[in-house]
Amino acid sequence: MKLVVLTGAGISAESGLRTFRGHDGLWENEPIEAVATPEGYYRDKKRVRDFYNGLRKGLPQYEPNAAHVALAKLGDQLGDDFLLVTQNVDDLHERAGSKRVLHMHGELNQLRCEKHENHVFPFTGEEDETTRCPLCGASTRPHIVWFGEIPLYMDSIENALNHCEHFVYIGTSSVVYPAAGFKRIAHAHGAHVTCLNLEVDSDDSFTDTFVEGKASDIVPVWCQNFNTF
Ligand code: OAD
Repeated sequence: MKLVVLTGAGISAESGLRTFRGHDGLWENEPIEAVATPEGYYRDKKRVRDFYNGLRKGLPQYEPNAAHVALAKLGDQLGDDFLLVTQNVDDLHERAGSKRVLHMHGELNQLRCEKHENHVFPFTGEEDETTRCPLCGASTRPHIVWFGEIPLYMDSIENALNHCEHFVYIGTSSVVYPAAGFKRIAHAHGAHVTCLNLEVDSDDSFTDTFVEGKASDIVPVWCQNFNTF
C-alpha cells in the first residue's frame, strides 16, 4: 500500500459544511451527549433522528470542492495502492468520483437496523419511528458511529496503516480516537506522515511534514506532487 489518506470535516468546510469544533462548529449548538451518544439516542430518539434528518436533507445543496476532486483523481491513478478513509458522514468524496471510501464514522445517507447491525441500507429521506429495515422489518437508527461505539472498518484500516509508505491526514483536529492515533501507527511502521490543515501543530512528533492552508488550495498541489515522491 503506497498511500493512506484520512480526511476530516475540514476538507468539506469550503463546500459549506460546518466542522464540528471551534467557532460556529456543530457541537457549539448541539451537545455531543444529546445527539452523538447511544445514551442520548435512547433518551430521546426523535431529537437524535431529527438532528441527522436535518443534516441529511441539507447534503444535496453542497458540492465537492477541489480537494475532494484531487483525491478522487489520485485514487484513480494509484488504484489498489491507495486507501481513502474518512471520518466524514457526508457524500462529497463519492460525488467527486472517489470509488472506494471507508466511512469509519458511518454515513448520513444510510440507516441501520436496530436489531441487526449488519443490516445497513441506503436512505435519503426523513427517518422516524415508522421507518423499517427493508431486510427484517425491525426499527432503524442513523448509520452513524456515536461516541462510545466502535468505528467501522478498523481491521482494514489498521492493516493498511501497518503497510503504507505514506500517510496523510487532512482537515481533522486529531482529537477523536481511534482516528487521532493513525499517525502514530503509520509512523511506527516507517511511513512518511503528512498533515494538511488550515492550522498545523508543528510540535507533533509523529508527523514529518506539515502543510498549512485551505484544503482546496493545498490538497490539489500535494496530490500532484505526490506522484513524484
Ligand atoms: P473538527 O471539527 O474537530 O476539526 C476540523 C479541522 O479542520 C480543524 O483541525 C480545522 O483546523 C480544519 N479545517 C477547517 N477548515 C479547513 C479548511 N478549509 N482546510 C483545511 N482544514 C480546515 O472535525 P474532525 O476532526 O473531522 O465524529 O472531527 C472528528 C470527529 O469528531 C467527527 O467525525 C465527528 C466529531 O465528533 C462523530 O460524530 C462520531
